Amino acid sequence: MRIAVVGSGYVGLVAAACFAELGHTVVCIDSDAGKIAALKAGRSIIHEDHLQGLLDRHRGVGLSFSTSLTEAVKESLVIVIAVGTPPTASGDADLSYVESVTRAIARSAEGYKLIIEKSTVPVYTSAWIRRVMILNGCSSDAFDVVSNPEFLREGTAVTDFLYPDRIVAGADTERAGATVREIYKPLLDGSYARRSDAVSKPQGNQDMAVYIETSAQSAELIKHASNAFLAMKISFINAVAAVCEAVGANIEDVRKGIGSDTRIGSRFLQAGIGYGGSCFPKDVAAFRSVAKENGCQFGLLDEIHRINEEQRQRFIKKVRTALWTLKGKRLGVLGLAYKDGTDDVRESPAIEIVRRLLDEGCTITAFDPAATERARAVLGDIISYAPDAYTAVQDADALIILTEWKEFATLDLGRIKKLLNYPIVLDGRNLFDPQLMAKAGLNYYSIGREAIEPGDSASLAPRNPRREVSAKP
Ligand code: UGA
Repeated sequence: MRIAVVGSGYVGLVAAACFAELGHTVVCIDSDAGKIAALKAGRSIIHEDHLQGLLDRHRGVGLSFSTSLTEAVKESLVIVIAVGTPPTASGDADLSYVESVTRAIARSAEGYKLIIEKSTVPVYTSAWIRRVMILNGCSSDAFDVVSNPEFLREGTAVTDFLYPDRIVAGADTERAGATVREIYKPLLDGSYARRSDAVSKPQGNQDMAVYIETSAQSAELIKHASNAFLAMKISFINAVAAVCEAVGANIEDVRKGIGSDTRIGSRFLQAGIGYGGSCFPKDVAAFRSVAKENGCQFGLLDEIHRINEEQRQRFIKKVRTALWTLKGKRLGVLGLAYKDGTDDVRESPAIEIVRRLLDEGCTITAFDPAATERARAVLGDIISYAPDAYTAVQDADALIILTEWKEFATLDLGRIKKLLNYPIVLDGRNLFDPQLMAKAGLNYYSIGREAIEPGDSASLAPRNPRREVSAKP
């Protein structure tokens, strides 16, 4: 099938590459000529496992790139809208890109088109797309609109797309539903997973996705409600972590105990410094706005957001408690991305915590395995950037872990201790076993677990006598 994907962000580019992988002929459109030039030259513009491989496999065969939406609409039966819907000041999603793409589709369409809305949008967006098409001269039987929300996560986007739990299609006509089923057929009947050249399936993913066909409104709500529910799980466990700290319980044991109940499930119950990224914060706010506009009280959504904000404050307080005073302290920070496996720093709790620590007078050297360049674009030279984790902690008064990169969990603790000015580690992602930290002689502060302070105050004496320190913790 000929498919045009409009938008080459995380969702658009991954969808375009994966549709090509499923055997479709795909053109990916973006108005940013620089991005399209990079993609035409074979460079993936985002850090995502398997994506470069798919681009290499399909570029120039089933996958092309262009800045011309008009051409793409003319040539394609299906147009997938995957443009950004950034938040406005009030928390609503800004739908102006969706609207302008819809207008352009209406003006270029010749013959029947199926418009698939994949950007995360509030309820009634499909209805608005329909209305804009008609207002711009398209007859109502010359197109269908389907809401087909995407549930992929950054970092595992390709395998999430190719081995999804479910495919949701908010299709109001049988014709539209049939086309969506045809597009995703290899994922619905398991034939993609059986292919010898398939991207390998991660453990725990399904061969065959569940197909859920609903009204457009229901599909739109499924997306917002799914993200809000996952954000709720994270805020819930973070609030439980605070109680654990207050009563001397261990959040990792409590999490295991709760998550082993199959009705609850163990995923998205990792306590930390709160959720970030371009989706959860925006979608919780947008869902709240949708509920409010439609006369529904949904105070739980406010609470999810409040706990998430508080979690960052609590972590800063922990750093202050461990170091006594922050002014003049030199910190080695590991992790700037909003989570592991990605170079994305949008709404990253790590970036926000770094900013607040700088406001308190700290100096920071940071390392991130993938996000340094994007972080530099946001933070500039207000912090220093290290080429590796060990350089970041050299002569630091404490090590601060802000992103759950797996490689941080395998660092040589003996070496870290030698490099640090004080043996203090603050772990915002619970990457380490506290007993191991104790054995390594490190003072260890994590989330929802008792602080480990193996050494007496003598162990906190500065190791580097050449350095002036403002105070001794
Ligand atoms: C999220 C959803 O998981 C996807 O299903 C959805 O498609 C996507 O938003 C979207 O709407 O586009 P993503 O933002 O890529 O995906 O990342 P997640 O893996 O969900 O993590 C979000 C944040 O929650 C990160 O900051 C992560 O560190 C944090 N998190 C996640 C926790 O603090 N604890 C957990 O247990 C899980």
